[in-house]
Amino acid sequence: MGVGVFDLYNMLTMSIKEAEMPDTGEINSAVATPATKARRFEPSEMPDLEYTPGLAKEMAPLYEKVKHVVPSIEWPFFAPKIKAINELKKTRNAVILAHNYQTPEIFHCVGDIVGDSLQLAKEAARVDADVIVQCGVHFMAETSKLLNPDKTILIPDVKAGCSLAESITGADIRLLRQQYPGVPVVTYVNTSAEVKAESDICCTSSNALKVIESFGVDRVMCLPDEFLAQNIAKQTKVKVITWKGHCEVHERFTPEELRAYRRDDPNIVIIAHPECPPDVVAEADFSGSTSGMINWVKTNQPKRVVMVTECSMSDNVAVENPNVEFVRPCNLCPHMKRITLDNILESLLYMKEEVTVDPLIAGRARLAVERMINLGN
Ligand code: 13P
Ligand code: SF4
Repeated sequence: MGVGVFDLYNMLTMSIKEAEMPDTGEINSAVATPATKARRFEPSEMPDLEYTPGLAKEMAPLYEKVKHVVPSIEWPFFAPKIKAINELKKTRNAVILAHNYQTPEIFHCVGDIVGDSLQLAKEAARVDADVIVQCGVHFMAETSKLLNPDKTILIPDVKAGCSLAESITGADIRLLRQQYPGVPVVTYVNTSAEVKAESDICCTSSNALKVIESFGVDRVMCLPDEFLAQNIAKQTKVKVITWKGHCEVHERFTPEELRAYRRDDPNIVIIAHPECPPDVVAEADFSGSTSGMINWVKTNQPKRVVMVTECSMSDNVAVENPNVEFVRPCNLCPHMKRITLDNILESLLYMKEEVTVDPLIAGRARLAVERMINLGN
């Protein structure tokens, strides 16, 4: 099965390369005018964003849900935008995909599909809408585009990047293939489409072990997250070749910090994301993807928990776990935080910023993502 995946890759890559080699004229026109159904939408006018007594009443049930994590002083500014966004979604036939690191007013009040990177990628493939607004970072929007070439994919701020995605290029992978001939390349979904196109298969933090072992070989490259690769290497006999990419949020946690939490409260439960350094993960009681962490809290209902990951996660999980006390180390992802209600609203009003992927790389990149999805969870 494992070796089959790799063989299949070689065969499919060849056929896709052949199938996708249009002449130069076709390439230029394809890049310049990506054909998407939702182009028929004209920009709309900015709606009235006044917080009237009527609107306050209408939005009160939603505020009830998030009142523990959204300060009452902020709600009058959020509520009119939330209403406008939810109405515009209907006229645009749009859905909002929101990652677990989005702030609670986005995650709980306008997100239609929420989850970790794998869940968003899978749901993106099934979405029945003309428009997807990606509330997350750029690589997530590209993944949605790969899986939905005919839909319009919007990202509210095109500068929402990722330190992992920026740590490696397609040229780096080609050089690594020369250095390690025949060794399969697994890339984290936190990479550009160009990097995915050079990979055999993608992975996320929730399926990395399964993906690495799927080849049935004794050496695999797992790129670019060095810490994720090191954490997975501890769970397998496969030798994992790493790259020096780091998540700028998770690399800042230290084992000393976690030990200090335990000194303060010996009964505290600590759960950490596998993008943290291995010595941090070693101090934790559980490690898993963002959804793995959420499910762990839902199932185990610890009295006090520290989620060693991006800030907004605890807020989002707290809404549905009122009996759990969250101790909140606050490491913000500056890229995730570029997405706000204001720019989501503008995104839907003005149909911007549209994310496209060069057709020359999209086919191979899509294959790497689909191969991961087809492996199952
Ligand atoms: P997951 O949601 O897949 O755990 O990824 C975390 C992350 O850092 C996404 O940018
Ligand atoms: Fe990238 Fe880390 Fe931010 Fe996720 S949290 S988008 S991995 S920088």
